[in-house]
Amino acid sequence: MVRDNDMASTIVIFGASGDLTSRKLIPALFRLFQKKRLPEGTRIVGVSRSDFSDDQWRNQLGETTEKFLPASFTAEDWKQFCQHVYYRPGDITKADDFVALGDYLNELEGTACDRVYYLSTSPRLYESAITLMGQAGLADEATGTRRVIIEKPFGTDLASAEALNCSIHKSFNEHQIYRIDHYLGKETVQNLFALRFANTIFEPLWNRNYIDHVQITVAEEVVIGRRAGYYDTSGILRDMFQNHLLQLMMITAMEAPARYDANLVRDEKVKVLHSVRPMSGADFAKNTLRGQYQGYLQEDGVPAGSQTATFAALKLYIDNWRWKGVPFYLRSGKAMSCRTTQIVIQFRSPPHLLFPSGKTRTPEANQLVIQVQPAEGLQLYFQSKVPDTEMKTRTSHFDFLFQEAGPGGMPDAYQRLLMDAVNGDASLFARSDEVELAWSIIDPIINAWGSAAAPDLHVYEPGLWGPTESTEWMQGQKRSWFDVCPVI
Ligand code: BG6
Repeated sequence: MVRDNDMASTIVIFGASGDLTSRKLIPALFRLFQKKRLPEGTRIVGVSRSDFSDDQWRNQLGETTEKFLPASFTAEDWKQFCQHVYYRPGDITKADDFVALGDYLNELEGTACDRVYYLSTSPRLYESAITLMGQAGLADEATGTRRVIIEKPFGTDLASAEALNCSIHKSFNEHQIYRIDHYLGKETVQNLFALRFANTIFEPLWNRNYIDHVQITVAEEVVIGRRAGYYDTSGILRDMFQNHLLQLMMITAMEAPARYDANLVRDEKVKVLHSVRPMSGADFAKNTLRGQYQGYLQEDGVPAGSQTATFAALKLYIDNWRWKGVPFYLRSGKAMSCRTTQIVIQFRSPPHLLFPSGKTRTPEANQLVIQVQPAEGLQLYFQSKVPDTEMKTRTSHFDFLFQEAGPGGMPDAYQRLLMDAVNGDASLFARSDEVELAWSIIDPIINAWGSAAAPDLHVYEPGLWGPTESTEWMQGQKRSWFDVCPVI
C-alpha cells in the first residue's frame, strides 16, 4: 500500500560508509520500497567523511544490496529506488558541517518534510553529534517531525547512559528519541506479545502457581572474529544481556498493558525491571556464572591474560505477585554448539503421579519452548500414552512453525524498526528509564566480576553449551538446561 497522503520523509544516515548501512539499513529500506511501504517521496541521505558522489554511493550500495538480498534484488527495482538515495560528505564532529547539512536538506526537500536521523556511527561520537545537531537546529520540529534513532550500545554503564540521556535531552525530547534494540524488531519477539495477549489459554498458567522456572538462551556459534577492539572492553554482559536478554525477559514477564501503545507497553516492561531482586555479597558467586571460550586469548587484538567473559549465565528473581520465587535463568555465549535463541517456560510437575513410566523415571513436566530464531516457532511438550502398553507415558510435542512471510522470507528486524520510526511508533524502542534500569541490574554484576571476589572464569571448549560448570550449576539446583538445537 502506498501511503501517498502522508508527508514525505527524509532518512539521514550518519555513518553511511559503515558496515551496518550496507549490510542492514539499505537492504531494509530497499525491501520496504519494494513492498511500497515507504511514504511517497521518501529520500535517503547518507552522510560520512568519505568523498563520494551520489552515483558512486548508489553504485556501491547496488552491489552490496544485491549481495545481501540475493532472493529479492532486481536491477529494475534498484534503478527506481536509488533515484531517492543521496550522499553528502560531512564530518559529524564539526559544527559547520551540521549547519551545511541543514541547508542541504532544506534545499533537497524544498518543502515541509519529516526527518529521521539514524546514528550508525561509533558510539563515542553520539553525544557530540547530537549536541551539534541541536545547535544547528536539526531537532527543531517547526517544519515536520524530527526523530533520531540511536544504535546500541547506549552507554557502557549506568553513569554513562545517564550522562548520554541527559545530554540528548538537551537537544531532543524523549518522544523524538528511538533507542534501537534489534531484537525487538524480530517477528518472533513481537509474536510473544500475540502469544501472551491474544490468547486466553496461556494466561491462567503464566505465573508462579504453574511455572517452575524460565530459561532464556541466546547461543551463538560465532566467535568474536575481528571485533576484539570492541568486544574485549564490552564482554557478554554489556554486549548481550543489558539489552537483548533483558528485553526478552521483560516481554516474557510483563503484565498486559491497557492498550498496545508505546508508553503503556514500556511502562509495563519497566515495572519488570523495577521488580528484579538486586544482588549483593555472596549472590554474585551463587547466581552468576562466567566463561571464556578456549582460543579467545589467541584472537587477533585480545590483550594477553584478558578476563573478558564470552559466556554468562544469570539467575534472576522478579519479586512481584506473578513471579515471586520463580527463577529466570538467562544464558548467552559465543562459540556455542549452534545458533539458537529460545525461551523455555518450564512448568511444574503434576502434583500427584498416577502413571509412573518405569521404575525410576518420573514423567517430564510440560515445557513450552519459544524458538525465537533461527527455526522460528513454538513447541509444547506434554505426556501421552505409549500405545499398546498398559499405562506407560512418554514425552510428545505439538509443533508450530512461524510461517515465512512470503517471497524473500522473514523480514529483517530493521525493516520493522525503520518503518516504526518513520511512522512515529516507539513501542519497539527502549525508553530512557528502561535503558538506565537495565544498566542498574547489569552494572553490579560487571563490578563484582571485576573485583577480588569475582567468581572463577571457566574456560570452555568451543562447540558445546558453554562451560561444564554451567551444566553442573543447574544440576545442583535439580534443573537442567534445554540444550537442544532447533529442528522445527
Ligand atoms: C549484537 C551483538 O547486538 O547482536 C553481537 O553485538 C551479536 O555480538 C548480535 O552477535 C546477535 O544478533 P542476532 O540478531 O544475530 O541474534
